Amino acid sequence: MAANSTTVANPVHDPRTRAKLLAALYLAQEQYGWLSPEAIQRVANRLELSAGQVYSTASFYTMFRLEPQGKYLVQVCEGLSCYLAGGAEPIIQHIARKLKVKPGETTPDGKFTLEVVQCLAACGTAPALRINDELYENLTLESIDELLERLRSAA
Ligand code: FES
Repeated sequence: MAANSTTVANPVHDPRTRAKLLAALYLAQEQYGWLSPEAIQRVANRLELSAGQVYSTASFYTMFRLEPQGKYLVQVCEGLSCYLAGGAEPIIQHIARKLKVKPGETTPDGKFTLEVVQCLAACGTAPALRINDELYENLTLESIDELLERLRSAA
């Protein structure tokens, strides 16, 4: 059975199975970068669940990606501290304009995916964003431009 958003599935209620499922989804995403229908099916087979059940759980959590992402996942914080430090919306708009994408989209060259998140635990050095596993703090529009240019020209 192919996993898709129209699949109706019984939710996974058993806490142990659910914990195993979340761990398996996390590992699959680490390995493949996103949860493709094939990855969903593999997890389902492994845990003896239906693909619909696995998809339903994966789609509930924002940490799981059901679409391929760019080489650089740009996560901009829109939390209160970043907002108060002049970040959030102005930074999101600036990056969206620079990359010509909306939040949730990937640039056509597959290099950048823009995502908006709630808090990156860098409130004391707001505004902040994270690119892949790297945190960038005390941002200005100029420092963002430099950062994006550096990544754009990187191999
Ligand atoms: S509110 Fe932006 S890092 Fe916490």
